[in-house]
Amino acid sequence: MAAIGIRNLSKSFDGFQALSKFSLDVQQGEFLTLLGPSGCGKTTLLKIISGFLEPSTGSISIGGEDITRVPPENRDTALCFQSYALFPHLNVLQNLEFGLKQKRVSRDQRDARVSEVAAKLGLETQLSKLPNQLSGGQQQRVSLGRALVMRPSVILFDEPLSNLDAKLRDQVRVEIRRIQQDYSLTAIYVTHDQSEALAMSDRIVVLNDGKIVQVDTPEQLYAQPKTRFVADFIGGANLITGRVCSQTKENLTSVETLMGQIQTSHRINKSSENVELCWRPERAQIGKGPYCGTIVHRAFQGQFTDLILEENDMIFRIQTNNDRFRVGEVITFSILPDDVVVLEADG
Ligand SMILES: Nc1ncnc2c1ncn2[C@@H]1O[C@H](COP(=O)(O)OP(=O)(O)OP(=O)(O)O)[C@@H](O)[C@H]1O
Ligand SMILES: [Mg+2]
Repeated sequence: MAAIGIRNLSKSFDGFQALSKFSLDVQQGEFLTLLGPSGCGKTTLLKIISGFLEPSTGSISIGGEDITRVPPENRDTALCFQSYALFPHLNVLQNLEFGLKQKRVSRDQRDARVSEVAAKLGLETQLSKLPNQLSGGQQQRVSLGRALVMRPSVILFDEPLSNLDAKLRDQVRVEIRRIQQDYSLTAIYVTHDQSEALAMSDRIVVLNDGKIVQVDTPEQLYAQPKTRFVADFIGGANLITGRVCSQTKENLTSVETLMGQIQTSHRINKSSENVELCWRPERAQIGKGPYCGTIVHRAFQGQFTDLILEENDMIFRIQTNNDRFRVGEVITFSILPDDVVVLEADG
């Protein structure tokens, strides 16, 4: 049985459809990330699951029980926001134990859970401070701690790391994942940050305009984006349209494009004449090859170098771990048929 079952969920605000016919099962202990542009309905979905917003139609179950009409305080969920929403007159310790007191958890249990979470989040030395005596990053960790001490069966995160600097964000995201796995919590996590989504998730749901575009593991989503929207949203993608010209041996298909013929080993719908292809910048094999381009921009990134190439009014992006290429040079490259994905039209 799924931990969370979402069926045909829709939400409209004065005729504006923020979510439409959203259906999804989340498994017990799964870490699921919602990824999508601003305004696509991510926060709306979390608010509906936690009970702060009523859906227009559809239902939600947790642990097999329909909770669509259950008030938020009676749901076994905790929501952790981007804005910390701490009680300003309570110190860190009191903020952390507030929810446990409300649920009448025994003092021993309370103390044990609070000290465990405070230690995990590096807050032990801050317990007697008021929120306005903390840095933004510390406040964010208290907010996170307040949700974690509850050990809810479902924990919902709405961009909980967006106010942290890059280094702290990396640390806290490892902590979140570890705590979620230690307690086998079912988590739904919202982020704008695609690398955070790829690094943390068991599965990622890509949303656009209130609808699911693709649900997959991070690896699948990156290697096999279904549409241009997904390809473009996750990782850099080179996109090119072309005309199917032949099926060759070993199930390869040749597509005539402005770059020349590109071969793909991915399935092409038999009736398709025109298709859109996608390949990832780091997959270009520099050296010999049928394609070439002039470097018009170079950005050294440490572990790799980004190169923007131009050829016949087309622009490509290539990534290489070789830092000797310079603007103005012409480079040749090839792409393996396995690395050329055929996209479906955006629905
Ligand atoms: N209470 C409301 N009344 C009217 N429209 C709303 C309300 N809440 C959200 N919306 C609209 O619904 C859409 C989805 O909003 P939501 O907050 O879910 O987006 P989001 O994906 O969380 O975006 P962001 O990444 O910017 O946080 C937006 O267009 C928003 O303007
Ligand atoms: Mg939001």
